[in-house]
Amino acid sequence: MILAIETSCDDTCAAVVDGARVLSNIVSSQAKFHERFGGVVPEVASRHHLELVNAVIAAALEEAEAELADAESIAVTQGPGLIGALLVGLSTAKAIAAAHRKPLVPVDHLHGHVAANFLEPDPLEPPFLCLIASGGHTLLAGVREHGSFETHGSTVDDAAGEAFDKGARLLGLGYPGGPAIQKAAEGGDPRAFDFPVAMSERGLDFSFSGLKTSLVYRVRDLGPEETERHRADLAASFQRAIVDQLVAKLRRAARSGDWPAIALGGGVAANAELRERTQSLCDELGLRLKLVPISLCTDNAAMIASAARFTEPIAYPDYLGFDAFATDRRSVRAA
Ligand code: KG4
Ligand code: ZN
Repeated sequence: MILAIETSCDDTCAAVVDGARVLSNIVSSQAKFHERFGGVVPEVASRHHLELVNAVIAAALEEAEAELADAESIAVTQGPGLIGALLVGLSTAKAIAAAHRKPLVPVDHLHGHVAANFLEPDPLEPPFLCLIASGGHTLLAGVREHGSFETHGSTVDDAAGEAFDKGARLLGLGYPGGPAIQKAAEGGDPRAFDFPVAMSERGLDFSFSGLKTSLVYRVRDLGPEETERHRADLAASFQRAIVDQLVAKLRRAARSGDWPAIALGGGVAANAELRERTQSLCDELGLRLKLVPISLCTDNAAMIASAARFTEPIAYPDYLGFDAFATDRRSVRAA
């Protein structure tokens, strides 16, 4: 059994996983503290992690009916993410692991999103193509083994989740933007407004900043009253443009490889339109689609424990000098 801690952004998470079985997966969301700022304030996130982390770990152990002594190792997100937020989780994990002379498993957050697919129910085996779309990252991962992945394309500017968050702010829909835009879009016409879908970027790379700029101009031209009146149509059209690009790049990657299955990961994988459209793509191409439950799409620690199963543990005391990393160390692209 593995105890995992994840504090890379604004969710304080701890989980207990036994093999592919999730025994507990606790997420304490800080969204309400960040909402009024329209996005995550890093220093506020670190302070809340510090206040919440011990209680969240205790809750994860209690729900799993496990003791710290039962854990074979302590897994923790080492990066990428907000550096102060990561340091709270990493220091906590080091302290717990050292006190019990247990191994520590430092996990890459993006490997965690991929590894969510290895968990029950219905674990997926490599090889598969995985679209990771979150608040901080958008990339196409080619997964040939449990312990690593190749990056086939990534965003050249904003992440897909960031586009949702910025779009929601422009439309006065609050934070986090993805669920807010999805909800507002329900009553809207996705063909009402024409937004650009960046397709000319290098092969499998993504770009969302032009789309955001386009919404800025739309909102400015419409003015506050008309924006309010057309909010559902704007949200639906904007969401459609993001999903169009994600699905187009997925299609391109799927057709240029020999992947038998497609999986989605990251917070944007919770999006209903993206899930439906990826299902249609898989039907069209005759591929298997793996969709993890929403609770395993958005940030959580069960996915970190899942990745830890396929990552080399570090024995006590060799991890005591380990540091967190804020940006993606894996930015070297696959040939
Ligand atoms: O993976 P995640 O929880 O955290 C990061 O690693 O960033 O992803 C958070 C992102 C946010 O940008 C949020 O707006 C987006 O995922 N998101 C969604 C939905 N739920 C969360 N985007 C679109 N539709 C959703 N239903
Ligand atoms: Zn994430």
